[in-house]
Formats: sequence, C-alpha cells, structure tokens
Amino acid sequence: MSIEQGPTTIVAPSLLSANFANLAAGIEVIEDSGADWIHLDIMDGQFVPNLTFGPKMVGDLRPLTALPFDVHLMTKTPERLAPDFVAAGANWLTWHIEACTHSHRLAMLVRELGAHPGISLVPSSPVQLLSQILWHVDLVLVMTVDPGFGGQSFIKSCMQKIIELAEIRQERELSYKIAVDGGVSLENAVQLREAGADILVSGSAFFESKQKQAYVKHLRKAPGH
Ligand code: DX5
Ligand code: ZN
Repeated sequence: MSIEQGPTTIVAPSLLSANFANLAAGIEVIEDSGADWIHLDIMDGQFVPNLTFGPKMVGDLRPLTALPFDVHLMTKTPERLAPDFVAAGANWLTWHIEACTHSHRLAMLVRELGAHPGISLVPSSPVQLLSQILWHVDLVLVMTVDPGFGGQSFIKSCMQKIIELAEIRQERELSYKIAVDGGVSLENAVQLREAGADILVSGSAFFESKQKQAYVKHLRKAPGH
C-alpha cells in the first residue's frame, strides 16, 4: 500500500474541539476550511481520563465526507476495537505503544484490513520505545501534550522527538509520516515543520480560529513553500 506523498504539510483538524451534539456541523466546518484530513480522538476513560465516542459514531460520520479519517486510539488494548474502527471507515489507525503489547501483530492486522497503521507515544515516552515498530507503520504520531484533553499547552521538550524520528527515517530509508498532536498553533507550526513534521493535528486552535481557511493555509506554509 502506498503512502500518499505531498510537498506540503497535511492539516488534520480534530473533532474533539467540535460540538459533540452536532459533529456533522464540525465536519462541514473542517471541509469548508480546506483542511486535508479529519482527526478523530477515541478515548476510553482508562488509558486517558476522558471519554469520547466509538466505532458507531465513526461509521455514522463516514458518509458525510470524503476526507480521510485519521483515527487516534487512546485506549487500552487497542487490538480489541481496531477492526471495528477500520470497518467503520478509518483510513489511518493509530494506537499507543504504551497501551499495546503486540504492536507488530496489530500493525499487520490493520494493514491487512485495508488501513494505514500508525503508532503514537505520550510525552514521557522516549523515541527508543518505537525502535522496532518503525519498520512496520505508515505514521508516527508524537503527542506534544498529555493525551486526554484539547486545549493544553504544547510541551516544548517533545520537539526533539520529531527531529529524532526524522533522522531515523532518513537513516533507515523509511517513509512513515510524522504527525504532531497537542498544542499545535500558528506559533509553533513553522518550527514543527522544520523539525520534520508532515501532519499537524489541531483541535482548539482550529475551532477557535475566526478565519479557518487562512489558519489552515498558514499551518501548511512551511519554509521554502
Ligand atoms: C488530545 C488529542 C488531540 C487534541 C488536540 O489527547 O489527542 O488530538 O484534539 O487538541 P489541541 O490542538 O487543542 O491541543
Ligand atoms: Zn489526537
């Protein structure tokens, strides 16, 4: 399965900051903004201290847009629900290395089911933890806040992990995309892109932005573009 390569940053607004009583409207807002992907945060109240929604919601939202669904599982034992989320329409399925003992097996399964496997790590986990799974995933999502809530401040020390992941990608001649999630805004977008980020997930800053099309354009605008 090929990974779509593009010269510009992929912007993935997170529905977490939309109104849960009207997620269809949230999708419309994301579509109108010209963003590339829709980021869906799945929280189980166990791995993280918050709850969101499950496969049924993802399946119900699926016919509303053709934009890729970037599903971020913040759940314990992600292997239990992964097939249901792929069946519901996840194009990219990311789980946490800290929550899954057999991430290699899950990566194989997700790919077999027809989605792109992705792996994530919380701010306190080192890149080293991903060493053996990097060969098998299409996306690495660097959490730059402690997962569980939108609207938190970007943890600057995580920047180094993006640089490390970009270096490893080059050394090993891999092609996984590097996504950054948490506290992304116009203030740090250029620095993130320069560090090696391909995908910028944005929740609160996107939904609070008054000029969403301009916001998306600015997030995308990497140095040299
Ligand atoms: C946090 C989620 C993020 C969240 C980001 O646990 O994984 O996707 O929506 O929100 P902001 O951009 O507000 O930090
Ligand atoms: Zn997320």
